This record gives sequence, structure tokens and C-alpha cells, in this order.
Amino acid sequence: PGLDVLAKKAGLLYFGTAIDNVVLDNKQYISIAHNRSEFGQVTPSNGQKWMYIEPQRNVFNYTMGDEIVKPAIKAGQMRRCHTFLWHNQLPEWLTSQNWTKTELVGILENHIKNEARHYYDECYAWDVVNEAYNDDGTLRSDIWLDTIGKEYIELAFKFARKYTSPRTRLYYNDYNIETVNNKSTAVAALVKDFKKRHIPIDGVGLQAHFVTGSAPSYDQISAALKLFTKLGVETAITELDVRTQLPDSAEKMAQQATDYTNAVKACVDGDDCVGVTVWDFWDPVSWVPETFPGQGNADLLDANFTRKPAYYKVSDMLGSY
Ligand code: G3I
Repeated sequence: PGLDVLAKKAGLLYFGTAIDNVVLDNKQYISIAHNRSEFGQVTPSNGQKWMYIEPQRNVFNYTMGDEIVKPAIKAGQMRRCHTFLWHNQLPEWLTSQNWTKTELVGILENHIKNEARHYYDECYAWDVVNEAYNDDGTLRSDIWLDTIGKEYIELAFKFARKYTSPRTRLYYNDYNIETVNNKSTAVAALVKDFKKRHIPIDGVGLQAHFVTGSAPSYDQISAALKLFTKLGVETAITELDVRTQLPDSAEKMAQQATDYTNAVKACVDGDDCVGVTVWDFWDPVSWVPETFPGQGNADLLDANFTRKPAYYKVSDMLGSY
């Protein structure tokens, strides 16, 4: 049985993968990516980001998002949609001007309104705001914070609630929040504040971009999940991968398998951790080598589509429930 079949038996809603547009012409890749028993959920790794969706002001182009979402619907896979607001992959027209606060709030609402309506009821969850915090728990200085102030986060969630289907789960998504630390504590404080003031938020996504041998332990991840779930939101592991310093070795692959398995198991055992998404399953399309030269082999399948020890260890662990 595939990973999603096993994950559902273990109590998760899904085991999913990100899919990038650059690989859509690879038949072997696509047959695995849209195999529902392997991956019950799909996230576009790039296709729904601002620079592609609204390349000119108020001109919307959903081609890249639809290329991932439509086949997922056809295959009966859930969709996590990614992402309304980020500091990265913004279009030139947006970043090359100095907007007033009022203008930028209007631009944000218009973007969320249009994209939310296009994907109305097609997303189990939306990553409404992505990566707003620095590792020390302060807010990241970017166009949003610098122009609108810290209320840009709640504005994005209010707009998302206004224009998405009422069934859509609204998530805050970030990396380095998989342990209890300054950043995850700041995100938990945000959630607590939102709950107190009735700002809509349904979930926190823990990206989980890990490094072989220094990934957080099962206990650390479990504790981080609890930080959020005790506040009454669900969680998900949204972008799991475990990158290795190359050259790879049997020993490193065994360690990577343990690191993957700890993360998936923490989600399975945690209350209100709904599912796990890997940030692609195939090494040749991983984001890692471009960003961290000398590192790679972060995914479950190697360049020949051969399953690695990490695939089997995750599969065996899920099968044991
Ligand atoms: O748009 C061009 C395209 O025109 C060209 O043909 C192609 C050829 O290389 O490059 C395209 O741009 C690339 C884009 O992905 C789309 O494939 C960029 O160079 C590349 O830098 C970009 O990387 C993406 C990255 O976000 C951007 O920061 C990765 O694929 C994507 O996996 C990664 O995803 C992020 C999550 O959204 C948020 N969390 C971290 C995660 C990993 O960085």
C-alpha cells in the first residue's frame, strides 16, 4: 500500500506532496505524484504564488496553479493551497514602488479576493501568511510589515475568511518552528492573541525543512505541535524534507530515514496534527541544491525514482499502527 493509504490507517487525514510546474511533462513523475494511494494531498510548490497569479496589477492568471490543482481534483487528492502572502516571489510591479498603507492594504485584499474566489472550495487549507517571523521571534522586515505595520497579518486572515469557502482551513505557515524556541513561541503568541480577539485562524503549518543528522527529535517536534494545538488550532507538517551534505552514503541515508520517520510519527501521535506533506518526493526537483550548494538528496525517491531507506522506514512506521 502507498503512503497515503497507510497514513489514513494510522489516523492522519492525508500524506501528501508538493508538485512543481517544471516537471509536468515528466510522465513517470506525474504518475507517482497523482497516485492517490501514495499521495492523498497535493500542494503547488510555486503555481499559486503572487508573481505567477497576479503578474500585473489586477491581471490574474491561474494557469500555473490550475495545472497542479485540477489534476489533483481529478485524482481525488486533497489540496493545500500555498500561499496568499509571502515576502518572496512577489511580482516586479508590487515590489518596485513605494505604496501607501491604504494602497497596499487594497492590493492585498484584491489579491486574496480574486485568488480565493478562483479556488473557492477547492482547497482543504490555505497558507494565508507564510514566514512572517525571524528566528529570534521578531517580525520580519518586508514590504508588508514596513508599509502596513504588524496588523497586516490579521488583515490577511480576515480577507481570507471573507473570500474563501467557510470550510477552508486558514493556516499560518513557517519554518524553524518545529521545536520550542523563540520563533515558535512568537507564533503561538500570535495564535493566542488571534483566538482572544476572534481573528480567524484554524491551523499552524510546520514546514520541517531539516538537515540529516541535526533534525529535531520526536520529542522536540511533539512539544512544538502541542504549543499550537493546546490553543485550539490544528497543525500539519507542510513541507517536510531532510537534506544531506553530499556525497551521500548508506550511513547518511539511514540517519535521514530516522529523521523523516520522527517527524511523521510525531504528527501521527499528536492530537490535531492532520497530515504530512513532503516538499516534493523526487530529488531532481528539490529546491535544496539551488539554495544550499553542496547539499541535496533531500527527498524520498532518488533520481531513478528508486525508493530510499527513508521511504521504507516511514512506510513501515505508518504500517505499524
Ligand atoms: O520562474 C522561473 C521560470 O520562468 C524558469 O523557467 C525556471 C527555470 O529554472 O525558474 C523559475 O523560477 C524558479 C521558481 O522556483 C519556479 O520553479 C526560481 O528560480 C526558484 O528560485 C524558485 O524556487 C522556489 C522557492 O520556493 C522560491 O523561494 C522553489 O521551487 C520552492 O520549492 C520554494 O518553496 C518554498 C515555500 O514556498 C515556502 N517555504 C520554503 C520553501 C523552500 O524554499
